[in-house]
Formats: sequence, structure tokens, C-alpha cells
Amino acid sequence: MIPANHSRPAFPTFPGFFVTGTDTEIGKTTISAALTRLLGQQGWRVVAIKPIAAGLECVEGQWVNDDVQRLRTASPLDVQDHEVGPLQLRHPCAPHIAAKLEGVVIDPQSLLSAIKRTAAKADFSVVEGVGGFCVPLHEPIAAALKAPHPSEQKADSDLETPPHLRGRWDSADLAVDLALPVVLVVGMRLGCINHAVLSAEAIRARGLKLVGWVANHVNPQMGHADDNFATLNQLLGAPCWGRVPFLSEPLPDPITPHLNLAAILKAISAPLPGLPQVPQVPTAATAPSPPPRNIVILISGSGSNMQAIAETAQTAQWAERHGIHIAAVISNRADAAGLQTARNRGLHTEVIPHTQFETRAEFDSALRDCIDRFAPELVVLAGFMRVLTAAFVQHFAGRLINIHPALLPAFPGLNTHQRAIDAGCQFTGATVHEVSVEVDQGRILAQAVVPVLPDDDAGRLAHRVLMAEHRLYPQAVLQKLIQPKNRSQTQLSQR
Ligand code: GAR
Repeated sequence: MIPANHSRPAFPTFPGFFVTGTDTEIGKTTISAALTRLLGQQGWRVVAIKPIAAGLECVEGQWVNDDVQRLRTASPLDVQDHEVGPLQLRHPCAPHIAAKLEGVVIDPQSLLSAIKRTAAKADFSVVEGVGGFCVPLHEPIAAALKAPHPSEQKADSDLETPPHLRGRWDSADLAVDLALPVVLVVGMRLGCINHAVLSAEAIRARGLKLVGWVANHVNPQMGHADDNFATLNQLLGAPCWGRVPFLSEPLPDPITPHLNLAAILKAISAPLPGLPQVPQVPTAATAPSPPPRNIVILISGSGSNMQAIAETAQTAQWAERHGIHIAAVISNRADAAGLQTARNRGLHTEVIPHTQFETRAEFDSALRDCIDRFAPELVVLAGFMRVLTAAFVQHFAGRLINIHPALLPAFPGLNTHQRAIDAGCQFTGATVHEVSVEVDQGRILAQAVVPVLPDDDAGRLAHRVLMAEHRLYPQAVLQKLIQPKNRSQTQLSQR
């Protein structure tokens, strides 16, 4: 059995469930829409989300996905297509192939953020997976091929690297990253028992709860349908939420009478009808607050890495889940553009202008005192362009980290992108490292690999590296704070 294979939220990210199926084309969207309609009829503010939809058609000059439209219209809320289907791919095929055909990289963080934004509009969300339970969401990358398969990983090392950083992110990981209970739609046809049992095993192996299953009759000619249904009922070990007959027009309204509302509400711990209330699913918001842990971010310029960290902290609920707060953003330059960005986000800012100090030691000492006021567990250098004195580094030893735009130990210092191009490197990237007294030489915590393309100039390359930094640094900050010590480095390939 595959163990729960990476650190996942302890509680559902929001109230809702994740709908998966025994295969593609077995009525997962049909049932998701019907479940959404049914809960909407109870007075719930429910939304359906299909994070990845493959297959667009042009209707009156607009590219639309039929599943997304069906889910949108099933919801009682006024939501847009792009909110229900944040990633819609044109080709009707496996998502990682469709994405490749369109030159799209499916970015887990962006996708998860988009899902959470839509879920935040509702009190309850029905999130529909893609295809069956374990569908790859991007091409396996070289690092992933070398890494052990999830089934072979040891539990303690699993915490080190989330699957999307290992290149193994699949639709099951999407459910895991949302920590949602799962509903399995079984397409009732020959072979469905094996598919259903394997799916149920995979769901539980990922540490998720199978809260219910729905039998959806997709083949009106199926032989021994009742016997198959009875066998599934015995084998799946979860309550049946309904048995839906073959319908020539599988619309939500004709389906809802075949769904067992009492079983559904019981499974998701909700009150019975007459008390139209959202279920009390424990979420990060209702879980006890963890003790506060401050971080302080130092910037000198645009502060885009600081912004990426702040955004991730917000969307991934670092404060609620881990007690992590960005206590202050401090700059050595009053004109650093990132200061305004921080203020716009409601973050506290401070300026300690280095020009007002005669010596490096005096500036560092003032900076140290300012930082100390926030009692940070971690000081994050994000484009902070000052060489720090040994006294400063030693004062924050073990809790001072930096991001550098190269694959250290190659290219410490400045002009890293031009130097990588001049040296004929095929790959460069970014490194998050602990800060040591020697510049850019501290212990490496995480790296992102970015290919150098034939027509790259320093500007183009810098832009792509910066995009990779924005994915890497928030992950590295979180890992540094929540992981046990002496972890090995994380690698993120950015092809
Ligand atoms: C980033 O590329 C970061 O790696 C680099 O400065 C940029 C800051 O951008 N840092 C260094 O070169 C440190 N030696 P940002 O202000 O937009 O985050």
C-alpha cells in the first residue's frame, strides 16, 4: 500500500469534497453538478469547481468547456467560467499532454490558489477531479524519474519535498493538497468493480477519507447490474450516496431524486434538512490556533520575492495553519518599490537607510536592533543588496536565509545571468541558502533549475529565473520553518 506521501494540510482547506471517478467519461461531471444542485436546494451557498478541464469548443466565437458550463449553471452562486474552471485546455486529451501541446506548465501553486479563491466565494465546494484518481498533471521531470516512486519513499523523507517539486504531482495530489474528503463516482459497466476497488484503495493510500460513492449507470445494457451494485456496496467500505439510472439526458434535476440526501449529509456531518446550515467540517479556520512565529523580510528593490512569499502565506493560510506571520518588511532604501507593495498588503514596513550610517557595522547594528523588535524565528533576505558583517550574521545564525539568482556554488556575487550565458551553461537557476559570513556560501536549502535557451539574453533569462524564484522561495521558507532540522536540499526543475 502507498503511504500518505507528503506533508498535507491536517484539515480540509475549505468545506467541501473532491469528486473522482473510476475512469474518464463515466459521468463525474454529471454527478458533481447534481450534487451541487442538491446541496444548493438545501439553501447552501455551494459552488462546483473543475480545476482542470481539457477540451474546448468554439461557441459563438468563444472557446468554452462544456463541463465547466454545466457545473457553473448547477451552482446557485453567480460565478464565472474562469472561476469554475481556472485551467481550461484546448485539446480533449490527458491534461499533461494537452498542456504540452499548448506550451502551458501546470503550476500547482497557481492552481491551488485559484481553487481557493473560488471556494472562498461559497460556503461549500464540490471540486471535481480530472479523469480517474491518479492522472499526471505534468510531464515527469528528470529529477522525478531519479526519485523513488511514492510507494517506496520513507515517511520521514516524504515531508522534505512536496510531490510537485519532485515532478510527480497528479490529480490525487491535488485532492491531498486540498485535504478534502473524496466521493467516488463508479461508472457502472463491465470491469467497474476492479476499477472501483483500486480507486478506493488509492484514495485511502493517499491518506484521504472516502466519504461516499455513487453508482452511475452509463450502460443501459449492463448485465447483472444489481449483482455488481451489491458487490460494490460490500467492497467499497463507504456509504452509497445514490444509484443513478441510465438517463438519456443526464441533467442535474432528473438526477437529484436518485441521490440519498440523508446519507450525504450524514457522511459530511451536516444537519438534516429543515436546518439549512453549512456543515461543521473542521477547517484551518476552526482548528485551534498554533503559537505565533514571526518572520521578517529584508528588501532593497522591487520586492517581488517578498510579494510571492506574502501571497503564498495568505493563500496557503500560513498564519492559521502554522502560526507564521510576516511581522515586518524592512528596507535599506526608502525608495524601494517593494515597500509600497508591502504596505498595500497591510504589512508593517520599516526603513533603515544605510546612507545615514558612517560604517557598515553601525548600519548592521541598527538593522539588527530593528529586526530584534519583531522577535523573528526567520529573517528572509529577498533581494536585500547589502553585504552583511560577521557580527550581524552570527547574531542571526541559523535563522537568516537568502535567495541567490544562480545555482550556487556556481556564480556567487553579481551579474549571474550574463555570466551563466558567457560560460555556455545549459542550465542555471536560483538557490535558497543559509547566510554565512562568506558571501553566498551558506548551506544550500533549495534550488530551482532553469534552462538557458539559445536566444537568451541576460534580461530574458533573469525574468525566467525570477519566476522560478517566486515558486521556490515561499516553499523554502515554509520548509525551513516547519521541518525538523538537517534536511537535504529541495530541487525544482523549471523546464
Ligand atoms: C532576485 O533575483 C534575487 O535572487 C536577487 O535579487 C533579485 C531581487 O528581486 N538577489 C541577489 O542577487 C542577492 N545576491 P526582488 O526584489 O523582485 O525580489
